[in-house]
Amino acid sequence: MLKRISEDKLNEIRQASDIVDVISDYVQLKKQGRNYFGLCPFHGENTPSFSVSSDKQIYHCFGCGAGGNVFSFLMEIEGYSFQEAAIKLADRANMDLGVELAPSGQSQQSIAPQFQQMIEAHNLLSKFYHHLLVNTKEGQHALEYLQKRGFTSASIDKFHIGYALDSWDFVYKFLTKKDFQPSLIEQAGLIIRREQDGSYFDRFRDRIMFPIMDQNGNTIAFSGRTLGAGEPKYLNSPETAIFNKSKVLYNYHQARPAIRKLQQAVLFEGFADVIAADRSGVENGIATMGTSLTEEHVSILKKNVQSITICYDSDSAGIEAAFRAGKMLHESRCQVKVAMMPNGMDPDEYVKEFGEEKFRTDIIQGSMTLMSFKLLYYRKGKNMQNEGDRLRYIEQILLEISRLDMAVERDMYLRQLADEFQLSLEALKEQEKQYSRKQNQKQPPRPPVMHKQTVRIKPAYQNAERLLIAHMLRDVDLTYKVQELMRGNSFNIDVHQAIITYLYAFYESGHEPNVSAFLSFIDDVKLRRILVEIEMISVEEDISEQELLDYINQVLKHQKMLKIKEKETELKDAERHHDFNRAKALLTEIIQLRKTL
Ligand code: UTP
Ligand code: MN
Repeated sequence: MLKRISEDKLNEIRQASDIVDVISDYVQLKKQGRNYFGLCPFHGENTPSFSVSSDKQIYHCFGCGAGGNVFSFLMEIEGYSFQEAAIKLADRANMDLGVELAPSGQSQQSIAPQFQQMIEAHNLLSKFYHHLLVNTKEGQHALEYLQKRGFTSASIDKFHIGYALDSWDFVYKFLTKKDFQPSLIEQAGLIIRREQDGSYFDRFRDRIMFPIMDQNGNTIAFSGRTLGAGEPKYLNSPETAIFNKSKVLYNYHQARPAIRKLQQAVLFEGFADVIAADRSGVENGIATMGTSLTEEHVSILKKNVQSITICYDSDSAGIEAAFRAGKMLHESRCQVKVAMMPNGMDPDEYVKEFGEEKFRTDIIQGSMTLMSFKLLYYRKGKNMQNEGDRLRYIEQILLEISRLDMAVERDMYLRQLADEFQLSLEALKEQEKQYSRKQNQKQPPRPPVMHKQTVRIKPAYQNAERLLIAHMLRDVDLTYKVQELMRGNSFNIDVHQAIITYLYAFYESGHEPNVSAFLSFIDDVKLRRILVEIEMISVEEDISEQELLDYINQVLKHQKMLKIKEKETELKDAERHHDFNRAKALLTEIIQLRKTL
């Protein structure tokens, strides 16, 4: 368990961590008036409704309602506990807390010690492989191989590329000397046990080593490339307790900030492609591990972005794989683009031949929509001069058009098709409608896209409560005054009452007004969100005595109205039962209440 961090330290951390700075690691922010705006990292959107206030040190999304201070931002975006967020921020501000973040972030507490050791073994080995590659004579030829392929030393460092010696027992000796049990090293996939005599040998020998990291930057597996023509070209760690191929994306750990910031991820087939793209300034690249994209991969990506560019090899296998990945991503409601290289090239080859800038501008920025890709895809293997092929093509495209969500899109592609093959638009439309009908019979309708919360006009008492809270957040004296004027009555809205109850406690324990600090005092996400919403939309003007009384009256009035309604129902009931005494008493009460309004 972690040591508790003192409140003084927390204050220090908060003061040292500027929220605009921290959030800028994840979101591209633009200054507009007093606040900063950007695309919300917590839900997919195309127009910015995520705002950050530098004065107040809080953030709020008008679209999805996310909100909080610098601690809760890291908690929400990284899945950290409060402590972990605090440690990360302290680290960022070069403050020494004397406590360390467990290696694997949030899930670490639940990770069994032997898994922790497996990670430790990988981390140590990764460092040593890298050292062998860049600093030793034994690694010299491997380094030269990489350089010839265009790997820069910056890339080699950034991706911790290494070299495994041409030895049968180097890893075995290296790790057992550091007190790792052979059985554990074997379960981690780093050495293999011989059936005959139970002795062990290294899995990776004389290979360029690419460490595979989890989302927290811990090495959990390796992929080793041959230097020559040996088979397999890439040898991967087997599936182990800490490594599951179908859940791991190469470079996800390093690419995530860029993915979030650009609201775009680029999906590659190979490690070399990710690295070449990174060298070209495309830092939001990830790759699967030689397997096709899984639902798990998609759900990891969907937590971060809506829009994904597929940049697979442009050979026949790559195009087929891109088609399948595109379908899968589209079905998961991602916005899909496809980037294609000419002449069956892969991204790494393209960068080497045409340069980094051209890769960035022509290939990545010049990527096409999924539909344009399909128009090309269905041409593959067909001869458009042949009538049968041509009809088959038109049918396939019409079917695709009928699956498009937007009428304007459908219309555009229908026109394109009519133009290209000199067909009547009417006929194509008719045909497309038939497909469309069939589609609708087969498929359940897509769920509606969630739009921004509709702005509803709030009743007066609700606005009054919000305004009171906004002022109370800035002024201790005013808070006590409100408490007095409320005469023991509660705010009408439960969450508002909860917030002011916290606020009384906050001031009573000697705190000064500070919304960001107050947010750390509340452990309920829902309350924090509402608090931030109130703070972000409230005006910053002084309040007169009269205004204050008016607001309080509105709050109390609503309660009296509710009470009157309640009494009126009781009155009707009494009348129905001919209980005239009770009716008379109730009537008097109602009249009394009405007078006080
Ligand atoms: P490629 O064969 O396209 O390799 O495999 P590449 O990325 O172009 O690699 P270089 O440029 O020849 O070095 C794409 C991906 O498939 C997986 C690896 O993840 C590789 O990056 N793969 C490939 C394997 O796992 N094993 C293999 O034997 C080959
Ligand atoms: Mn390649």
